[in-house]
Amino acid sequence: MIIGNWKMNTARADAIALAEAVVGIAHQPATRVGICPPALWIDPIAHVLESSSILLGAQDCIGDQFGAQTGCINADMAHDAGCSMAILGHSERRARFGETSESLLPAVAAVLETGMFPVFCVGETREERESGRALDVVAQQLKPLLKAGLDVSGIVIAYEPVWAIGSGLSATRADIEEMHATVRDVVGRADALVLYGGSVSPDSADEVFSAEGVSGALVGGASLKADKFAAIVAAWERK
Ligand code: PGA
Repeated sequence: MIIGNWKMNTARADAIALAEAVVGIAHQPATRVGICPPALWIDPIAHVLESSSILLGAQDCIGDQFGAQTGCINADMAHDAGCSMAILGHSERRARFGETSESLLPAVAAVLETGMFPVFCVGETREERESGRALDVVAQQLKPLLKAGLDVSGIVIAYEPVWAIGSGLSATRADIEEMHATVRDVVGRADALVLYGGSVSPDSADEVFSAEGVSGALVGGASLKADKFAAIVAAWERK
């Protein structure tokens, strides 16, 4: 599974042009390819993707029912607009809006309830890695999902070391393997889908995908250029 997270990028016309280019990316049926545009462009892009195999996702949503929540979109709205997934708990949202795994539980449950799948992000900071706490930090980020009794079989987990996001530095193959094994251990599922995210590019993709236990990638910067995104999909398929 290769998912593009466009973050707060693209004007409307650029978003539509990029989505059209992504529709043209050749991929095997076994590879799920998806894009998560800014919320305002979900609806026009749903039309672009209509008869394609590209999945559409939201970058965030909340778990509340319809109601007085200024500025928010809920899981039902994302689903209604044509999304089949929602990224939840991205480190940028954890850092800026104080989201925590606990506060995200209603959103995870609501996303699952609609039939969409959450792409639940976890990852340690540079300081946490350097002090030897990376595995524990990520385990603590996952445990609330289990404690809440959520169906983890429907949740895609994205391991995104915070220091690797947008920095041009990817985690090493050994660190990715160790973390992905830990994630599967903590959730108690050998078959869990665990993506890697953090500076995945056409240059780093082969190395990242050579790590055992990687189920694909969550791609930020490189997903904004269709040729780079296509090269990452191609790297996944030749692995
Ligand atoms: P990046 O972002 O590929 O630009 O590092 C990844 C992400 O934040 O999902």
